[in-house]
Amino acid sequence: MNENEGTYLVTGATGRVGGQVARQLLDAGATNVRALVRDPSAARLPAGVEVVRGDLSDAASLDAALDGVTRVFLVWPTLQADAVAPRVLALIADRVRRVVYLSSTGAGAAEPNDPVNASHARVEHILRESGVEWTFVRGGGFAGNDLAWAEQVRGGGVVREGFAGWRRSVVHEADLAAVGVRALTTDDHVGAVFAVTGPEVLSQAERVRIIGEVTGLDLRFEEQTPEETREALRTWLPEDAVEDTMAEMATMTRVSEPVTADVAEVLGRPALPYRRWVADHLADFLPENAVSEGVPSTARVAAEYVRAIEHGDVRAVLDRMTAPDYVLVASDDMVGSPVEFGVDGMERRLEAVAGTGEIHGVEVDEPLVRGDRFAVRFTFVSTVSTSPRTGPRRAYAEISLFTVRTGRIVREEVFHQRPTAVR
Ligand SMILES: NC(=O)c1ccc[n+]([C@@H]2O[C@H](COP(=O)([O-])OP(=O)(O)OC[C@H]3O[C@@H](n4cnc5c(N)ncnc54)[C@H](OP(=O)(O)O)[C@@H]3O)[C@@H](O)[C@H]2O)c1
Repeated sequence: MNENEGTYLVTGATGRVGGQVARQLLDAGATNVRALVRDPSAARLPAGVEVVRGDLSDAASLDAALDGVTRVFLVWPTLQADAVAPRVLALIADRVRRVVYLSSTGAGAAEPNDPVNASHARVEHILRESGVEWTFVRGGGFAGNDLAWAEQVRGGGVVREGFAGWRRSVVHEADLAAVGVRALTTDDHVGAVFAVTGPEVLSQAERVRIIGEVTGLDLRFEEQTPEETREALRTWLPEDAVEDTMAEMATMTRVSEPVTADVAEVLGRPALPYRRWVADHLADFLPENAVSEGVPSTARVAAEYVRAIEHGDVRAVLDRMTAPDYVLVASDDMVGSPVEFGVDGMERRLEAVAGTGEIHGVEVDEPLVRGDRFAVRFTFVSTVSTSPRTGPRRAYAEISLFTVRTGRIVREEVFHQRPTAVR
C-alpha cells in the first residue's frame, strides 16, 4: 500500500460497513486512513484511524476531512441528505480521484421500487456524470439488519417480525467492505458495478432458526400482523415509503433475492454464510449471563474454538481451551475402534496427521451448539505422503463433538469420513 497516493477517507465509519472498511484498510497495512464522523466524541474507531468531524448533509463542513484525500469510501445517508446530494457529491468529485460508493441492488432497477433505492440510483447517476473514478458496491439485504432482533433474542425465545417468508440473500458486512477495499486499493475495478449478496437465500424464519443453532438458545419466529409491521416501519421510514416497502416485502416472499457470484469473483473465495455472520455477532445475541462470573457459555467457547482453528492457532486451543482432564476419543487410523487420549493424545494425533501427508487446506464450519455440547465439521484436503508430494490428493471430513464444562472443553469425540480422491 503506497502512502504517497494520499489519504483514504471512509464515511459511515461508525456504522457497520464503513467500520469494516476502516478496519480492513488498516489490516491491509494502510497508515493513511481517515474517518468522517458527525460526533468525534462518540465515535469508537480502531487506533490508527484519524477522526475528522464533518456532516455529509453540509458541504461547508467537509473541507478539513477532504484535505489530502484521493480515495473515498462513501456511505450516503440517503433520504436525509438527498436535497444536497448534487452539491456535496460535486464537491467530493472535484477534490478526490476515486469514490467507491455503497449502493443497493435495488438501485439497478429501471424504476427503483422505493425511495431509498431511488436515492441510491440518483447518487450513482451523479457520480457517473461527475468525472471521478467510481465503483458501485451494491448491497443486497444486509445481515446486519438482523441485529434489530438482538434484544428479542437476548430476552429469550420469540422473535416477532413481519413476513416470515421474506427470502433474502443477506450479506455479511465484512464481504461488502472487502469488495470495497479491493476497489479502493487496486485499479482493477474502476467503472465496475458489483451486486454483493450472501451465498444462500434464507427466509426470516430460517435465519432465526440459524441464530438459535449458533447461539444454542431456544428460539422461535412469530409473524407480526401487517399493521404491526407497518408501525415498525414507521419508526425509521417516512410515511409515503411505508406502503411501497410493505408491497416490496410481500413480493419478496414469492420472488427471492438473487444470489450473485461477485464476492467470489473479486475476492477469490465464496461469500461468507449467514451462520458465520451470527458467530461473528455472538456478543450481540447472547444474554449477558453467557459469561457468568468469568465463565463463558458453550456458544462462546464454540465460536472462540472455531476462530482459533481458522487462524491455525492449535496451541491456543490446547493451552487455553481444554480442561486439565480433557479426553479425546478418536480412532488412530480413521477406521479402527475409538481410543481415549488426554491432551498429549491430541498432540500425538496432530503429529500423526502431519506424518500421513501434506495438508493443503482445512475448512472449518460454524459450530452447532446444543446445551453443553457443540459440533464442528472439518474438511481437509491433503496429499498422501506414501506417494510423491505431487501424488494423489484426497479430501476427507471429520466431525468433532465437544463437551464443555465451566468454559473449558472436557471431551472431544471424533467421527471420520473415509477419504475420497480429489483432482
Ligand atoms: N441495510 C440494508 O439492508 C441495506 C441494503 C443496501 C444498501 N444499504 C445502504 O447502505 C448504507 C449504510 O446502511 P447501514 O444500515 O449499514 O448504516 P449504518 O450501519 O447505520 O451506518 C450509517 C453510517 O452513516 C453515518 N451517517 C449518517 N448520517 C450522516 C451524515 N449526515 N453525515 C455523515 N455520516 C452520516 C452514521 O454515522 P453517525 O450516525 O455516527 O454520524 C453511520 O456511520 C445506506 O446508504 C443504506 O441505504 C443498506
